Amino acid sequence: MDNRLHKECRRRRADLMGMIGNQAAAIIPGASLKIRNNDVHYPFRQDSDFWYLTGFNEPDAILVLLPDNARSRGILFCRERNLEREQWDGPRAGLEGAVEEYGLDDAFPVTDIDDILPGLLEGREQVHFPLGRDGEFDQRVIAWSRYQRKQHLMPEELVSITHLLHELRLIKSNYEQQAMRRAGEISATAHVRAMRTVKQLGNECELMAELLHEYTRAGCQTAYEPIVAAGANTCVLHYISNDQPLDQDGLVLIDSACEYANYAADITRTFPAGGRFSSEQKAVYEIVLEAQAAAISKATVKHNWDAVHAAAQAVIIDGLLEIGLLSGNHAEVLASGSYQRFFMHKTGHWLGLDVHDVGDYRVDRLSRQLEPGMVMTVEPGIYIAADDQTVEQRWRGIGVRIEDDILVTKNEPDILTDLVPRQIDEIEALVQGG
Ligand code: GLY
Ligand code: MN
Ligand code: MN
Repeated sequence: MDNRLHKECRRRRADLMGMIGNQAAAIIPGASLKIRNNDVHYPFRQDSDFWYLTGFNEPDAILVLLPDNARSRGILFCRERNLEREQWDGPRAGLEGAVEEYGLDDAFPVTDIDDILPGLLEGREQVHFPLGRDGEFDQRVIAWSRYQRKQHLMPEELVSITHLLHELRLIKSNYEQQAMRRAGEISATAHVRAMRTVKQLGNECELMAELLHEYTRAGCQTAYEPIVAAGANTCVLHYISNDQPLDQDGLVLIDSACEYANYAADITRTFPAGGRFSSEQKAVYEIVLEAQAAAISKATVKHNWDAVHAAAQAVIIDGLLEIGLLSGNHAEVLASGSYQRFFMHKTGHWLGLDVHDVGDYRVDRLSRQLEPGMVMTVEPGIYIAADDQTVEQRWRGIGVRIEDDILVTKNEPDILTDLVPRQIDEIEALVQGG
């Protein structure tokens, strides 16, 4: 295991134990393999909370934290070594590996957890765990606690750990920022490749293959199902069929990125399949581009979360009024929300181990102040459905979104995905030049 990650995980466990205090314990389960069909599994992806605290990438493991000042312990329940299974599935760390390679303080076979865990919880007043996320796991925690009750040692409270843990995850360390920058770079390479190759290709699925090529050769996975939408499909927000012919007169909208070291990027670019924006496509694109620039300029410690969306919203309202897709004045459109017909989503979300990452957007009901180390997407869009009879034909079927990943710093916003062009002339040159 990467030595820096190992140290990071130790520090994260110590931070979390400091937050829950010496009277408490925490139990955090890892992910299990999931069946796709018959005896085929989905590729394994570790649970993000569990990964954050362990860097341990095997299924069926459970982390237990027992804070006790200098004698605090992180204990891993995991699979034992099994040479026969390892012949088929590859190596396991086993109990020794969990301690020696991953820096846990102790490890036990996960098959023995029902016998061992209740004793470890003895005397603890609260047990923190991801309460309510998985009903079956809730029942197991209650069963471990029931055992305690018989001995009059029942933890007084079963507490959700989600909020504390997710607040830690919201602020990215230097190590995490580096991983996210790398995820952004690899994903950017894939978008540039898609723009360069599109003129040789005939179908959305061929473009998707170009993206996956870049992720795979960098040793990465896709962070989410790619959206590769041509023509009127650009207006379908979660379009993932990716199997239609490319229309030379239409736009292509690609929302795709990879995961590096389990950290996601999230990029959208929109470009003309034939290499030149029509005047209507250009008009819509320019509004979205200006909206994104206005929103990114608010991604600083001087602003709160809502300011980023408000900036994009204001530019989009003005732009739609100017090109005649909306009527009335700015204040009326804002008050009625009529612009939401064309811009129906928010401007961004937190980004990290999960593509829609964890962390609150409001604190004490107020929009959250931005802080250094937060990473967010900024992704305004305008979508004019192909069957929208209320607008002139020439506007129909145009969907544009531009999405980048922004690290909030003490100074200017740091765009982690800046390597993919977004200016019209740069995009046209790339698509035409090949
Ligand atoms: N790719 C998911 C999103 O943009 O939110
Ligand atoms: Mn996004
Ligand atoms: Mn996206």
